[in-house]
Amino acid sequence: MSNTKLNELRRAIEAMDFPNYIYSYPPKRAYRPFAERLDLRDSWREQQGDLNVYLHIPFCNYRCTFCTLFLTTAQTPDQVESYVEAVENQIRLYGELIGHLRVASIYLGGGTPTVLSPGQFGRIFAALRSEFPRLAPEAEVSIEGTPDTMTPEILDCLLSLGINRISMGIQSFHPDEMWRAGRRYGVQVAVDAIENIRRAGFENFNLDLIYGLEGQNLDTWQMSLSKTLSFSPATLSLYPAVFRPLSGIHKLKSRSPEIFPRERLRGEMYDMSVDLLAERGFRQESSIRFTRHAPGGYRQEASDFQGVPLLGLGAGARSYCGDLHYTTDYAVGKRSTLEIIGAFIERHRQPRYDLEYGFQLDRDEAERRFVILNLLLDQLSLPPYVQRFGTDPLERFAKEVEALESEGCIDRDGDGNVRLTRRGFKFSNLVGNLFYSERVKELEASYSPK
Ligand SMILES: C[S@@+](CC[C@H](N)C(=O)[O-])C[C@H]1O[C@@H](n2cnc3c(N)ncnc32)[C@H](O)[C@@H]1O
Ligand code: SF4
Repeated sequence: MSNTKLNELRRAIEAMDFPNYIYSYPPKRAYRPFAERLDLRDSWREQQGDLNVYLHIPFCNYRCTFCTLFLTTAQTPDQVESYVEAVENQIRLYGELIGHLRVASIYLGGGTPTVLSPGQFGRIFAALRSEFPRLAPEAEVSIEGTPDTMTPEILDCLLSLGINRISMGIQSFHPDEMWRAGRRYGVQVAVDAIENIRRAGFENFNLDLIYGLEGQNLDTWQMSLSKTLSFSPATLSLYPAVFRPLSGIHKLKSRSPEIFPRERLRGEMYDMSVDLLAERGFRQESSIRFTRHAPGGYRQEASDFQGVPLLGLGAGARSYCGDLHYTTDYAVGKRSTLEIIGAFIERHRQPRYDLEYGFQLDRDEAERRFVILNLLLDQLSLPPYVQRFGTDPLERFAKEVEALESEGCIDRDGDGNVRLTRRGFKFSNLVGNLFYSERVKELEASYSPK
């Protein structure tokens, strides 16, 4: 009998049909309003052990042409202040419930968290430390930011609050590519920001680049990559440009596809980068991330993938509490985004325990999640899977495994553990997609961005 999974994989690889980068499973686009009212106190009651904390700051100074993350650029100082107060209230609300858990990592993402003032950071960290006093000594405490906000003052403040990892979007070092991507500052601003990070004493920093930007070619990509490497980042994240509906580049590409590098060229950019980074001693951790830093940059993601619960704070942040995943509503459009941020601020004036929007994983989805995330990040080890689900994943997903082996995307060691090959990393989004349930695919396909 023919293996439909193999046909699906072959077709996608031939078309070089890269779907979106897989941040998690199920993806947020598969979340829906809960049919029945859920209470977060019931959901978190049983949780023990470690906790990861993510805080979303949905503010930026500009919207880059490729970006559809949940953020606004129309914030007023009063709104930002009210948002920080709402976050402090939310931290207190959760502190009462789960403040006894050990915090394994904290990640401030966005948007651009570094648009906050030192005083606002101080208040957020004071609330976190008093409500969650058990911060692991080795905890990764990370923040994202843009070059034009990485001032020495902010960096000193972050260091004094115990932040030990910085992640910054460079995107490109080519002035025209930067400009067209919506980064309306000079190359020197990005260079100064990296110097500021290093001078402040942060050794563990990540830089993001994007390949597939308007007008980019192999030479300009190589230039951006080499220049980035000259600053010796601990981790490099290389993102293929994703053209999501409602983004500037999505509209532009539908009018003028020829101004963007084609899939084949993007494939060459990726291959060249993998070779260069291997030569420079970087270890490939995923299709996106390359690291020199032991035990790996971005440990929060690794810890999430291993099943440590995630507390999402702020509007648009996801929480993973066992098999219950939830968030607030989120959007891309200006008006909807502001409404959702306003509703979050209102909601946290009083303690509220109802959950609105998310995904309850059943056993089938939990097995899929385990396989996808472990395979895409590190390796799919059999013992933890068997211990958790009591079955053999290689039998459970026999068709998928056979398809991946015949396409040379995975290797198995003597104990049956499965790892992505170089080809598997290149097509890792397709590898992950192979394990998606029909239900999640349908939910994703029927999601309409607002
Ligand atoms: C939350 S943002 C980074 C933080 C910060 N706001 C910045 O831009 O410097 C995470 C990264 O995802 C990447 N990214 C976001 N949207 C993308 C898209 N549509 N295609 C490719 N990469 C994207 C960018 O490299 C970006 O730096
Ligand atoms: S890429 Fe970063 S700075 Fe640009 S809009 Fe997105 S979150 Fe904001």
